Parts: sequence; structure tokens; C-alpha cells
Amino acid sequence: MLVVGAGGREHAIIDALGRSPQAPELLCAPGNAGIAADARVLELRGEDPAALAAAAACEHVDLVVVGPEAPLVAGLADALAEVSVSCFGPTAAGARLEGSKAFCKEVMVAAGVPTAAYQSVRDVEAGLAAVDRYPTVIKADGLAAGKGVIIAEDEASARRALHELLVKRRFGTTEVVVEEYLDGYELSLLALCDGVRALPLASAQDYKRIYDGNRGPNTGGMGSYSPVPAIGPERAVELCASVHQPVLDELGRRGIEFHGVLYAGLMITAGGPKVLEFNVRFGDPETQALLPRLRSDLLELFVAACEPGGLEGVELAWDPRTAVTVVLASAGYPESSSSGDPIAGLERVGGDVFVTHAGTARSPSGELVTAGGRVLGVTALGDDAAAARATAYAAAEMIEFRGRQMRGDIAAEVVL
Ligand code: AMP
Ligand code: GLY
Repeated sequence: MLVVGAGGREHAIIDALGRSPQAPELLCAPGNAGIAADARVLELRGEDPAALAAAAACEHVDLVVVGPEAPLVAGLADALAEVSVSCFGPTAAGARLEGSKAFCKEVMVAAGVPTAAYQSVRDVEAGLAAVDRYPTVIKADGLAAGKGVIIAEDEASARRALHELLVKRRFGTTEVVVEEYLDGYELSLLALCDGVRALPLASAQDYKRIYDGNRGPNTGGMGSYSPVPAIGPERAVELCASVHQPVLDELGRRGIEFHGVLYAGLMITAGGPKVLEFNVRFGDPETQALLPRLRSDLLELFVAACEPGGLEGVELAWDPRTAVTVVLASAGYPESSSSGDPIAGLERVGGDVFVTHAGTARSPSGELVTAGGRVLGVTALGDDAAAARATAYAAAEMIEFRGRQMRGDIAAEVVL
């Protein structure tokens, strides 16, 4: 099996596959310093679908699991189909759900899925005219690594944001979605999809802002926990039936068979749940909290999801405990990141704690060093959120590198 990606999410996927009774041979491209201990790492980046597909065929890979969105949007699943290698992850046509906010909105409306009211615009004045009231939300159309969403408090900041996106083309966008601001709490609900049916995973929450109390700029994600107490298995099945399944059906009507993870970012508002976005892959860092709780064989689930209707009758088994993941980021993140700083203290972390690597590398002398914005994720399980939090934070405190940033309030609201 080949896992594509280089982050904590991919490390968690590889760890879960490593627990499969089928004992698969694991490859990862390009991986990182931590993944290299659990899988054979191929020095290939995900940017060129044809090169990755050729490498997968050459290595006689049976199944490719794609972690990040960019290779899916670029057509990796399509390139793998051409060389007859199975892929857990949608084709480019399905990945447009994440690759284009405007397409995603259009599909949601056609599928009757509740979402914020919106207009899609191409110039600043049209954007301002689309605003009903402030605050309002302005979203770049293309991929922006979680950084293309601006919440504008007034007309002046909306004008600045629209100018940045449409005139300066900050993310290469020519189209912007202006949407209604929703109040409530956020929830990530991921579902495995076999082209026909969506099977919900356990609920999870991630923390997107850099600072405690959800302040500061958005990041790729600073921590997560699972499950969210208000969203038990029955509620997850209901949400999946009203959110994921209609989208899968709508894609089906358009001739798109979606295999992989459909991830709904939901806002639970006073008026019910509304979808903020769809992603077409596992969440990072939700996966680092979800997969350590999964008792089913992940390999078997991936194989089933690659077959049309293959998830029929499948039931997932979960560890009832709570998992909490705390992300350690490097100095300057998310505006910048620093690299090459030695990481100390990992050997002091106990075996009951799972550390995923993201931005890590080996220096020429073999020392573990930082290599990016999000460096490590520390996941602990506990009988309740308080216990999981206590173990995760005690371990996180043992790990040191220059300028280390971490939030102190991951899963804190569940404990109160
Ligand atoms: P997205 O990439 O669309 O999920 O947006 C990133 C983050 O921006 C979300 O996780 C929310 O915290 C926030 N956000 C996006 N859309 C809205 C909205 N309509 N109302 C309030 N917050 C939003
Ligand atoms: N945790 C947010 C994401 O994976 O997009």
C-alpha cells in the first residue's frame, strides 16, 4: 500500500494500517522523518500525478491512499486508474468539491444540503453589493491551505479582502464566494464513501486558529478531539443522511462516482446544522484523534470503499474513550515557519501516547529537526476528555524545540 502525503494525517493512517491483521507492506511518498520509521519512504512529491502513478505501478502497489487534497484535485486518482492501481480518493471531477468553493456551493444547493446563503462574484463592487449584513464571510474560490477565508467585520475590511483576492489575486483566484456569517459551534464529520453510500466516522472537532480562545489567524489546525459528546453515533448517522448522502447522490447523477473520504465542515447553528465546506480527504489533525480510536481494520475499509457499494453492511467499531491531539508548531507559524531546530525530549514520552510527525526531518548528522509549520502532533486516549487532555499535555510539555507554539485549550470546553 502506498500512502501519499507528508503530514501528521498520513502518519496516523500509516500507523492504523500497520495495525491491520493483514500486515500490508507500507510505502509513503514523500513521508517525513517519523513516517520513515514505519514505512518505506519514496522520494517522490505528489505534484505530478503521472510520475506518482508510474512509481505506484513500478512498485506493484495494490492500493494508493491519498492524504492531501492537491494531488486529488490535480488528478492523481485518474492517473492511477490509467495504470490500473486502486485509489482511495476521488477523481479530479469529485475533488472539485474541495477545489472550487463555487462548485461546492452549487452542488449543495442542487442536493438540498443546508448551507449559508451565498453569491459567487468576480469583482469588488459586485462582492460588496452581495453583502446583506456584517460580519460577512469572503472565500477565495481555489485551494488556499485553509487560509483563503476572511471574516469581514465591516465594509472597509470587506473591500480590502475582495481587493486582495480579486485584484491582487492572492491565491490565483478570479472568483470569490461571499456568504452569510453563521454563528454556532463547529464540527467535523467525515464519511467513508464507496461511490454509492456514505458511512460516517466518529465525530471530531478541530481548532483552526493559532491562539487560545480561537483568536488569531487560521492555521492548518492546532489540535483536535474525538468524539464530540453532543454528536454520538445516532446523530452522526442522521447528519450523514442529510449532508453526505445527498451530495454523493447528486455527484452520482452527474456521473461522478466518489470513492474516498467526504469531510463536512459543519456549523451547528440555532437553526440546525449547516455545511461550511466539503473536503475530499481525511482532516488534519482530526485524523490523528480519530484513527487511534478505530478498532475496525482500516485496510479492509479502504478496499471496500474502492468497490462500488462495497461498504454495504459494514459497521465500524470504535474505542469508547476520548482522544485528544495537541499540535506543536514552529516559530512564526502560520505566517511563516522555521526549520532546522533540534527537537528534544521525544524519548521521554510514554508508550501510551502517540506522536505523529508532520514538519520533521533528519539533519545531515541524523538529528531530528523541525522542517515546517506544524511539527508534531501528540495524541492521548483517556476515559474522559479531562484524562486524555492531562496525558496529552503532560507529554507535549516534554517535547522541546526553539519557538515551539501550542494551544493550551484543546478540548477544554468538553471538560468544563
Ligand atoms: P472553510 O475553509 O470554508 O471551512 O472556512 C474556514 C473557517 O472559516 C471555518 O472553519 C470557520 O471557522 C470559518 N467560516 C467559514 N465560513 C463561515 C461562515 N459562513 N460563518 C462563520 N464562519 C465561517
Ligand atoms: N482540519 C481541517 C482540514 O483538514 O481541512
